[in-house]
Amino acid sequence: MTAKPFVKWAGGKRKLLKEISSLFSDNIKTKKVTYIEPFVGGGSVLFWLLSCNQKISKIIINDINSDLMNVYRVIADQPEELISVLEIFQLEYHAFRDNPEGRKNYYYTKRSSFNLRDQQQIIHAAIFVFLNRTCFNGLYRVNKKNEFNVPIGSYKTPLICDKDNIIAVSKLLKNVIILNGDYYETLKYIDQHENCFFYLDPPYKPLSKTANFNKYSNYIFDDSEQQRLKEFCSLLNEKRISWVLSNSDLKNENQENCFFDDLYKDYNINRVNVNRVINNNSKEKNIKELLITNRLDNKKSLILQN
Ligand SMILES: C[S@@+](CC[C@H](N)C(=O)[O-])C[C@H]1O[C@@H](n2cnc3c(N)ncnc32)[C@H](O)[C@@H]1O
Repeated sequence: MTAKPFVKWAGGKRKLLKEISSLFSDNIKTKKVTYIEPFVGGGSVLFWLLSCNQKISKIIINDINSDLMNVYRVIADQPEELISVLEIFQLEYHAFRDNPEGRKNYYYTKRSSFNLRDQQQIIHAAIFVFLNRTCFNGLYRVNKKNEFNVPIGSYKTPLICDKDNIIAVSKLLKNVIILNGDYYETLKYIDQHENCFFYLDPPYKPLSKTANFNKYSNYIFDDSEQQRLKEFCSLLNEKRISWVLSNSDLKNENQENCFFDDLYKDYNINRVNVNRVINNNSKEKNIKELLITNRLDNKKSLILQN
C-alpha cells in the first residue's frame, strides 16, 4: 500500500530516504522490532517504513505540535468524516478560481478560525490540511502566541482533499501509537524485551542567521535543546537501543564549526549530500547533512538486538 505524507512539512526527509533506509538495513524485515519516531513531523520516514515493511510489531510516533498530531489522530480514527469536510472546503475554494479577492477572504477567514482553536477535532484537522495546501509554500510557522501566520499561496485550484492518500494513511496508522508531547515522553514506550530503534529528526540547528527559519511550534529548539537531545541519545545508548539522528552540517557554512562533531564525538557521524533551499528566494543548493548513529555492524547497518 502506498501512502505518503499528508502535509508538506519543513525538513521533510523524502530526499534522504535512500541514505536513512540503508542504515535501517534488512534487519528490520526479519526481526520483531519496535520503531519509535519522537519528532515525526510530516512522517516521510514513517510512511516509507509502513509502506514497505509489515514486520514491525510496534510503532510509536510523537511530535510536540498538537495541531499536527490532532490530524494524525483524526486520519487514523475518522478518515471518512475528514474527507467529507475537505471535499466541501475544496469545492468552496475552487469556486474562487477567477476571484482572487474571494479566495483571499476565504483563506484568511479559515486562518482566523484555526487560530481560535475552539473547533471540533475533525474541523480543526480539516482546516490544518486546508491551510497547508493553500498557504505560501506549504510552510508551517507560528508566532509567539502560537498563531499560524503564513500568508496565502498563489495556487488557484490546489488539491485539498487527497482522498486516496487519506484512506491509505488511515489504514497504515491503525496500529500506530500516536503521542503529542516532548520527545522524552517516548522513553516510557521502550520495551527491553523487543528490538527497539529510534529515528530522531529534531528541528535542525540553523546554518546561519539568514537561513530559512521554520517555526514548527512556539517551543524554541536552541543549542541547549540540542545538548539535551544528545543526553537523550546517550541514555538510549546506555540501554543498548539503536538510533539514527539527522541534523544540519554546520561545516557547510564554516569548516571550523565543530558543534555537532564535538557533541556526538562518541558516535558515528556520516555526512550525506542533499539538495536544499537554504535561504528564502534562493535556488536549491547541494549541501551536506548529518546522519549520526550509535550501534553499527560491519555492514554499516544498525545493530538491533539488545
Ligand atoms: C525536522 S522536523 C521533522 C521532519 C519530519 N521528519 C519529516 O520528514 O517531515 C522536526 C519536528 O520536531 C518537532 N519538535 C520540536 N521540538 C520538539 C520536542 N521538544 N519534542 C518533540 N517534537 C518536537 C517539530 O514540531 C517538528 O515537527
